[in-house]
Amino acid sequence: PNPSLLILSGDGIGPEVMAEVRKVIGWYGAKRDLVFDVSEDLVGGAAYDAHGTPLHDDTMTRAQEVDAVLLGAVGGPKYDDLDFSVKPERGLLRLRKEMDLFANLRPAQCFDALADFSSLKRDVVAGLDIMIVRELTSGIYFGEPRGIIEDGNERVGINTQRYTESEIDRAARSAFELARKRRNKVCSMEKANVMESGILWREIVQKVHDEDYPDVELSHMYADNGAMQLVRAPKQFDVIVTDNLFGDILSDCAAMLTGSLGMLPSASLGAPMANGRPKALYEPVHGSAPDIAGQGKANPIACILSFAMALRYSFDQGAEADRLEAAVEQVLADGLRTADLLGEEGATPVSTSGMGDAIVAALDAS
Ligand code: NAI
Ligand code: MG
Repeated sequence: PNPSLLILSGDGIGPEVMAEVRKVIGWYGAKRDLVFDVSEDLVGGAAYDAHGTPLHDDTMTRAQEVDAVLLGAVGGPKYDDLDFSVKPERGLLRLRKEMDLFANLRPAQCFDALADFSSLKRDVVAGLDIMIVRELTSGIYFGEPRGIIEDGNERVGINTQRYTESEIDRAARSAFELARKRRNKVCSMEKANVMESGILWREIVQKVHDEDYPDVELSHMYADNGAMQLVRAPKQFDVIVTDNLFGDILSDCAAMLTGSLGMLPSASLGAPMANGRPKALYEPVHGSAPDIAGQGKANPIACILSFAMALRYSFDQGAEADRLEAAVEQVLADGLRTADLLGEEGATPVSTSGMGDAIVAALDAS
């Protein structure tokens, strides 16, 4: 059977950028004989409008069955006043929770043509290619006890950082597996100097390494130093693995090394399915961008690169993922720019669909 893909375009610019991914998927079917069994469904506000819920049970079931889910974006001002339980974001959270997607992969890759968009100097970031693996389902955002309680004559806000050995173990394994497909290096970040969970984190990551991944180069770093090193000399890293809270902050920091939000893909992976591949949800980092929706201004590259990640991590098509990333690199080197990337002299402005067409043309020429 063909590999299966569930597309959930969502709201705002979601459907606009996804239309460009459909062109790329079509190209792989026509020109590389790589045919996907694609199904489409609603998520977020679009699902709420149709069904009164941001994720229908049937959609959830389908998401559990397919090889990979590709999501656009959810949300928008139209839904801001909805009850919390049916807000568009809840659709996305339900997918992540029920698929138990514990490893969030955020690559920070700096295409040479865009190195001047970085907040850092060109030399520091040109050619940068790092991957942050953030534990996504545990840690301080979920730990109990939590809440705001009365304590004598004042209130106290409480959150608890809590990690089990098995939660650390599976996050570490994801990072080591990834490193083997990349430059074989993992840096684990915590604060073992001041946190018990950090001590356990370091111990378990080291144990998983020594037992099952001794071939991968492992280092440990305190997360505050990690933040400093990411800005000082980011090219020293290959894969970074860290907890939910530190990963949230460090991945946003790393993202700004590379320029526009319109360029950033992500993947969230869970446990292996019967076919050995991880449950997987791929999505651009950006949201539904209501300020530019419906105007042909959205940059489709983040979503297209999310599909490239699916090729690499769900469909075992690393060479085809390389091909797609090279096509993106080519159109950028040719000076094509959606509105979010304009600014340089000599750049050629293109629309959302113009960018998608150019990437398909670059694939054709590859
Ligand atoms: P956003 O990411 O939608 O937009 C932030 C800024 O970046 C805007 O100026 C937007 O025009 C620009 N931008 C984002 N993606 C772009 C692209 N592909 N091409 C060109 N420019 C792009 O974040 P914001 O404005 O905070 O949230 C808007 C809505 O999206 C809200 O309803 C929010 O809840 C939702 N959201 C959804 C996410 C998701 O689906 N995973 C993630 C973040 C926000
Ligand atoms: Mg964040």
